[in-house]
Amino acid sequence: MELDDSRLEPSFRIDLRNFSEEEYNKYVKLNTVNDWSLLSWKDVGKPYEVTSFAREKKDWEASNQTELPPHLSWQMFNRSFHEWFVKDVPAEMDQSKQNFLKGLKNFSYSETKTALGEMIRIHLWNYAHRIEDGIWDPRGKRALFEGLDLSKPRILFLGAAEGYEAMQLSAMYPGGEIVLVDYDPFCKETRFGHFPESYPFLGTNPSTGGSKVYHKNDFNVHYVVEDIRRLPFGKEFDIVLSVGLLEHFPDSLKSEVVEWHRKFLRPGGYIIMTTPRAQLKSKLYYEIMADVMNHTYRELMTVEQMGLYLYENGLDILRHGYIKVHNGIIAQPR
Ligand SMILES: C[S@@+](CC[C@H](N)C(=O)[O-])C[C@H]1O[C@@H](n2cnc3c(N)ncnc32)[C@H](O)[C@@H]1O
Repeated sequence: MELDDSRLEPSFRIDLRNFSEEEYNKYVKLNTVNDWSLLSWKDVGKPYEVTSFAREKKDWEASNQTELPPHLSWQMFNRSFHEWFVKDVPAEMDQSKQNFLKGLKNFSYSETKTALGEMIRIHLWNYAHRIEDGIWDPRGKRALFEGLDLSKPRILFLGAAEGYEAMQLSAMYPGGEIVLVDYDPFCKETRFGHFPESYPFLGTNPSTGGSKVYHKNDFNVHYVVEDIRRLPFGKEFDIVLSVGLLEHFPDSLKSEVVEWHRKFLRPGGYIIMTTPRAQLKSKLYYEIMADVMNHTYRELMTVEQMGLYLYENGLDILRHGYIKVHNGIIAQPR
């Protein structure tokens, strides 16, 4: 595939399109807050809490008469979410339409209702992940991550799942090392293990300064299956990264989550965090996809709310903004 091209595969989009300086603002909106010390919770409000949960979680809680423990809830989430990444989406859209028509033909209310739900979900997934490429969003992430002062960085990714963002960072700042951490072994074996080797990450060629395409096997990756709270590392990483972690912890635990990032960062390194945005589109998405996605506590927040959590917990915010579906912040300990 040529540089500057994009193509739809059955399960995802591949996208090697670059953007010019003028186009940059189409992919990322940056730095809406001038002075974080002037912002208060009264100004920004509190995050939106998602309260529609997966049936799997509700069933488990009903039969065990207790709340689903976080570790198990992540194991359920990762299996459920991964199934969607490997779908042949056009084939499943066709199948869901056939099932819907069959339900109508049989005058079966429950069959038709189930098929309609399936049809809505697969069409939404097609739009969100394949057409818009909102989940991986390589152009948005490149815009958010560019221009950092890094050479051959060691990157620590907390709650890494398939490790996508660390691979994108390592393509942009090549020659370093990636340490992926997730306490669900399925993430190492399947979400990362089966991440498509053919997927191209657009990055930098260190010898020419021009563009270069990297693939999963080009990166120097170590996958650690461990609880973030039990890692053996010191303050040794140039980047400590998390994607979709902070919003899974209520306010009483947010400072601990920020501390997890600070703890492993070398002086002068960067903390990079992203969280899903509180926008109408995302609220609808998490409502419709509740069965697939909502096994744990989840908030949707604005970048101002996210920034205030980090600022209040002792980080200086170097860059903040949002891309298609996530907020992103680059910060350093104050
Ligand atoms: C919401 S996911 C991150 C989103 C991810 N980008 C995805 O596509 O699923 C959070 C990940 O963090 C992991 N995780 C949560 N708490 C953890 C902990 N205490 N130690 C290690 N991993 C943890 C979960 O297993 C899960 O894979």
